[in-house]
Amino acid sequence: MPTIKEIARRARVSIGTVSNVINSSAVVSPRRRERVLAVIRELDYHPNHVARSLKVKQTRMLGMVISDITNPFFPQLVRGAEDVALKHNYLLVTFNTDDRIDREKQVLGVLRARRVDGILLVVAPSNGNHAHILNAVKAGIPTVCLDRLPAGVNVDSVSVDNVGGTRSCIQHLVTMGHRKIGIITGPTVLQTARERLQGYTEALKEAHLPVKPELIREGDFRMEGGRAAGRELLASGDRPTAVFVSNNTMALGVLRAIEELGLNCPDDVAIAMFDDFPLAEAFRPRITAVAQPAYAIGYRGAELLIQRIEKKRTESSPLRILLGTELKIRDSTADFKFRPKN
Ligand code: RIB
Repeated sequence: MPTIKEIARRARVSIGTVSNVINSSAVVSPRRRERVLAVIRELDYHPNHVARSLKVKQTRMLGMVISDITNPFFPQLVRGAEDVALKHNYLLVTFNTDDRIDREKQVLGVLRARRVDGILLVVAPSNGNHAHILNAVKAGIPTVCLDRLPAGVNVDSVSVDNVGGTRSCIQHLVTMGHRKIGIITGPTVLQTARERLQGYTEALKEAHLPVKPELIREGDFRMEGGRAAGRELLASGDRPTAVFVSNNTMALGVLRAIEELGLNCPDDVAIAMFDDFPLAEAFRPRITAVAQPAYAIGYRGAELLIQRIEKKRTESSPLRILLGTELKIRDSTADFKFRPKN
């Protein structure tokens, strides 16, 4: 097994220089750096980061906790975070909770045991007891919440304007002539679901339209939940002419419900969703979407986290970054059938 001492001897530099090259911890002249890298390649040397982390009490590992990587929103979030991690010479490991709070608690325990240097967290729906998160923060593990903001957890965060994004979409549906607009929310224990519902009710009130409980269904941010809620909303003859769906996977479920009920989108019912996804333009109908910058959420969140880890940001008050959304109007709401005749 090659050693750092052997590399130093062969590259005719000090052990400290080899260490600086491996850890990018200090400036090394290009000529010496290349000599060291050439010997590392020749000996196929891989530093023992486990041993090093015990010595320097830093693993250079970030833990990322998300809901479900198979949901198109999350891969973009993870990619943004990983691009920053690699830029700063950190390793990012990602865990899925499947929106289960017991899994979230288990994963946070694993990340603490593995001594990660920081945590990026998209919380699972819960009863509001975030003791497991607060304990990790109290244990001195820098934590940044992304996308979903758990009440009472005062840490840096990056999220989007769920209220404004949803409001703009409902305003679009009203402009298209819809007066009976339904909504399928996410789990309302999540602030993202509540804020999208708030945007919906604010837009209806602005348009002097009643907020009717029978037009509001709670879903679970999953396809089957969207399909079931879509069937409930659309099965009756007195159905809404438009449905706003609070995330992308439930919107696909609603499309299935529309087809199963022998209806057509947008001829019989228009739909719009929060979240976009990369292949949305390939679907027919193309679905109108409130696109959120998932990559940027991950990217900015990882930047905040590394600034905390490296003590480049030390103020106690959390930094809350709120990013905008973009309304992408497509075929699923473009039908003019409902436009008022004037
Ligand atoms: O689809 C998953 C949903 O959970 C997204 O809307 C995202 O905002 C997260 O809250």
